[in-house]
Amino acid sequence: MHRMPIVVGNWKMNKSPREAVDFVGELVGRVRDFDSVEKAVAPTSLALPGVSRTLQGTQLLVAAQNAHWEAAGAFTGQVSADMLRGLAQFVILGHSEARAYLAETDANVNRKAKAVLAAGMQPIIAVGESLAQNEAGETIDFVRGQVSAALDGISADDMARVVIAYEPIWAIGTGKSATSEQADSTIGAALRDTLRELYDDNIADNTRIQYGGSVKPGNMAEFMAQPNIDGALVGGASLNVHDFAALVEIAATVKGS
Ligand code: PGA
Repeated sequence: MHRMPIVVGNWKMNKSPREAVDFVGELVGRVRDFDSVEKAVAPTSLALPGVSRTLQGTQLLVAAQNAHWEAAGAFTGQVSADMLRGLAQFVILGHSEARAYLAETDANVNRKAKAVLAAGMQPIIAVGESLAQNEAGETIDFVRGQVSAALDGISADDMARVVIAYEPIWAIGTGKSATSEQADSTIGAALRDTLRELYDDNIADNTRIQYGGSVKPGNMAEFMAQPNIDGALVGGASLNVHDFAALVEIAATVKGS
């Protein structure tokens, strides 16, 4: 079994279209040598056309930060998965900020994941517990519930294109990461075991699962050294070219074969 490591920079609501194009123009050369790692940037929707044009034919891929499940219609402020076709290879869904600020639900994450797969892209489904849930010992049950709901009705074949990101909410943007052992054991118990129940050993062992939450060059190696962790979904540190390149290099050094 070999799971290709995947490092994705989630820029959130940062970088204008112009800044985004300049940034990837610089980043692409710095990560070129690390082809044992899949890597992508997730700019705002507005910057997707410019970024995707700049990166055409390169190994630096593009992720969108959301997608609506309907192809078109009266959904103010939304962009459909269909419209992202050709602009992005990945779409981040279920991010805790979307769950907290945009009332994203498990049911909608599921519809969106199906739409993203149908449009030929790969969903990156983010799950993770709050601090209160963590302290109450509810992490495993909660995360299992999120992942089962998100994958409802998704076929075993389509699972080859699904990436999961485990991001404990209390570790996002707080500078306080989970310990790598904590993250690894939650990913094993809450995610790989759930995939084993929902599908089979093959899918449990082959699905790529990232860790996210205050990942930076200083702690990346520790996370990458964990057997269940296949990469990182990175916010803050992905906004800096040197840090982003360092994260990819560390993933290649620790995980790349
Ligand atoms: P952070 O964000 O790296 O800034 O903690 C991670 C994320 O939200 O995906």
